[in-house]
Amino acid sequence: MTQILTFLGIESSCDDTAAAIVRLQGGRAQILSSVVAGQTELHAAYGGVVPELAARAHAEKLDLCIEEALLRADTPLTALDGIAVTAGPGLIGGVLSGVMCAKGLAAGSGLPLVGVNHLAGHALTPRLTDAVAFPYLMLLVSGGHCQFLIVHGVDHFTRLGGTIDDAPGEAFDKTAKLLGLPQPGGPAVEAEAQQGNPKHFPLPRPLLDRPGCDMSFSGLKTALLRARDGVLAIHGGLPRQTRADLCAGFQAAVADVLAEKSRRALAEYMALTPASPVFAVAGGVAANSLIRARLETVAAQNEVRFLAPPLALCTDNAAMIAWAGIERFQSGARDGMDLSARPRWPLDQHAPAMLGAGKKGAKA
Ligand code: KG4
Ligand code: ZN
Repeated sequence: MTQILTFLGIESSCDDTAAAIVRLQGGRAQILSSVVAGQTELHAAYGGVVPELAARAHAEKLDLCIEEALLRADTPLTALDGIAVTAGPGLIGGVLSGVMCAKGLAAGSGLPLVGVNHLAGHALTPRLTDAVAFPYLMLLVSGGHCQFLIVHGVDHFTRLGGTIDDAPGEAFDKTAKLLGLPQPGGPAVEAEAQQGNPKHFPLPRPLLDRPGCDMSFSGLKTALLRARDGVLAIHGGLPRQTRADLCAGFQAAVADVLAEKSRRALAEYMALTPASPVFAVAGGVAANSLIRARLETVAAQNEVRFLAPPLALCTDNAAMIAWAGIERFQSGARDGMDLSARPRWPLDQHAPAMLGAGKKGAKA
């Protein structure tokens, strides 16, 4: 008899409150429902996520999102096989809200509880959408994350490198702010860049001169600020074409860095001689057409299948948490009422720790 597993997933580690029901049946995963309540408007006036506001909003919205997810999936709580919850890394107040909610539900229903690493949720998504086999290469590239991972197994990751300061999405957002464009900055900068000349302002390609897969995006933002101020000093304002040129220059620099570092990460991954090599991306920045095309080209040059899950599953959601919970549950993982919320939780325990914090919390 084939095993059927139906899990509730709960996500609240940053600025999205999310709940989803995912079912594994006959070896196939199916998302029965996925509810995401964002908090963009709540934080809009502050230029970043305010942790205390985020935590309170999660606490208010979690039960509503869970109810809605169960309703849309037409599945009562009693029909579930387990509850998966993001237990870190992230903004601790939000993670705590989710973990406490999941514990309450598990205690009340008697269902098994499985704590999930948020990054593992992103990293295991290609198995939810495309049943990809281990090992595969993953690039997480969003407003909060930027790292290359070789995914060897449900709980086994090698971190090849990542940003040592800002995440690219964060840099897109700050660039938009510097140029008077709306948030989120990524789509706004991309739209402007279409009219711009990427060569007009030659911006740096940080860390390309150093070996390895680590990246840096904060200096790029500073270079852009200097270029903008130079224009302001001469013109007293920012001509439309100049703004487009700055956006194009910035976008080209990020794309160049991500493409070259992907080439290096792929070389390390291919040394494992995987039977069916896959390079998958996740995160909001993967929505950028130029960046996506450049990554696709690098994959094609290496004869590696390129995979980008649908955007709704690339950005923060609870279906990925439910799925990672199912995968962990199948490998025997169970958590008790002592499951703790962790602000930091690196996927690769052997990789050097990331220092500092981004606008979306501690770097993992
Ligand atoms: O995955 P996501 O929702 O992550 C976090 O919440 O961290 O990604 C959001 C980030 C934002 O910083 C946004 O500016 C960026 O992804 N983004 C883009 C594009 N669309 C979204 N960056 C570049 N180009 C885009 N088209
Ligand atoms: Zn995320």
